[in-house]
Amino acid sequence: MGEGRVSVGRCRRMFSTPLSSHVGHGEFTDVYDPAEDTFLLMDALEKDVNEIKKLSCTDINPLAAACSVESAKSNGVNIQPIITDLVTGLLPRLQNQVDVLIFNPPYVVTPSEEVGSHGIEASWAGGERGREVMDRLLPQVSSLLSSHGFFYLVTIQENNPEEIMQSLKSSSLQGTVLISRQAGREHLSVLKFWKT
Ligand SMILES: C[S@@+](CC[C@H](N)C(=O)[O-])C[C@H]1O[C@@H](n2cnc3c(N)ncnc32)[C@H](O)[C@@H]1O
Repeated sequence: MGEGRVSVGRCRRMFSTPLSSHVGHGEFTDVYDPAEDTFLLMDALEKDVNEIKKLSCTDINPLAAACSVESAKSNGVNIQPIITDLVTGLLPRLQNQVDVLIFNPPYVVTPSEEVGSHGIEASWAGGERGREVMDRLLPQVSSLLSSHGFFYLVTIQENNPEEIMQSLKSSSLQGTVLISRQAGREHLSVLKFWKT
């Protein structure tokens, strides 16, 4: 088990956790260090690994984007992150084109004034009910996904995942709780959606 890896046995993963020892240090101090939400998301995605062949990613924090390049390189993958707000920089090109959309959003309940940073605060500050950032993406999901596309979203209980699933039904998206875990005070869930 090398530095930066999480024990495979302890996490009961088929695949070893990617190397990430550079995250949260030095030039990447202001980048979100993988935590329980990250690892729960990885566990959820592992279930669908055969459908996930190629990823592209976006981030509003330029350092997080640079850090993702480093993470990919350390793990033998090539990615070209796009620095943009949610998916803005990819529209309208990606309309109905996305096979896999994954969002581990800033979901922590915070004062609304804390939302909107382009730095490390953007990792967690979710504003009212922790929903202010994710609620801007949710209405776009249906028009982004391809006919066989999937959307994965990390939530905590305070975000009201049941209500999110109900509200996406009106955009013809069926949802389910793929996996849940208590991590300290957070009850984390990964939701999965697809077009009906
Ligand atoms: C909880 S962290 C997750 C980081 C990483 N994906 C993971 O799973 O460990 C949330 C990430 O979303 C980014 N972010 C926050 N608001 C954003 C926005 N409006 N557009 C794009 N990225 C955003 C943050 O900079 C941060 O890197």
